[in-house]
Amino acid sequence: MSLTPVGILISGSGSNMVALAEAMQAGTAPGKPVIVISNNPSAAGLEKARALGVETAVIEHRSFKGDRAAFDQAVDGALRKAGAGIVACAGFMRIMTPVLTDAWSGRMLNIHPSLLPSFPGLDTHTRALEAGVAIHGCTVHEVTADLDSGSILGQAVVPVMGGDTAETLAARVLAREHLLYPRVLAAFLQDPDAARRNPIALFPDP
Ligand code: GRF
Repeated sequence: MSLTPVGILISGSGSNMVALAEAMQAGTAPGKPVIVISNNPSAAGLEKARALGVETAVIEHRSFKGDRAAFDQAVDGALRKAGAGIVACAGFMRIMTPVLTDAWSGRMLNIHPSLLPSFPGLDTHTRALEAGVAIHGCTVHEVTADLDSGSILGQAVVPVMGGDTAETLAARVLAREHLLYPRVLAAFLQDPDAARRNPIALFPDP
């Protein structure tokens, strides 16, 4: 099977990026990580990408002085130059304009740390605790112009435990992100329409 070139967008520690790149490099997802782009020059994920032998680029949003469309144009250009066929956002903390979402429509995935449509946006773990939910988790979805609302490709559920803090809950969710995202990527690379029709559901170990 031919390997789809995948571009990965990050802003921070890059642990989901590592999970995706390792799955591709191990042959469990039929893709090839061709570039990791960060808007944040100090993202720890940049070094992790280099250690995996993946090309990196930094496109600082600050240097675009609030012109989101111009920033998105630069990111789009870097993805195209690297030959990306699909894009995986992995902790990429920028709101995108249609410059990016239209260019990559149907070819861009994101992971969000909640069971969408609950808790779109930021501070999901704190908000889940405040809401008193018994279950929480993460979602891989397609990226559209509307924040955190594209079609759902997979979800992983975690229990909320008594005594949880936002940090303990985030760690439990993140461990499931690392399982879910590579599985969804693999399914999407194999057959995007089938992946849309059959979202993956991961439940806690009994
Ligand atoms: C993850 O929880 C992701 O869902 C959220 O930000 C975090 C990024 O972690 N958007 P990492 O950079 O993949 O380690």
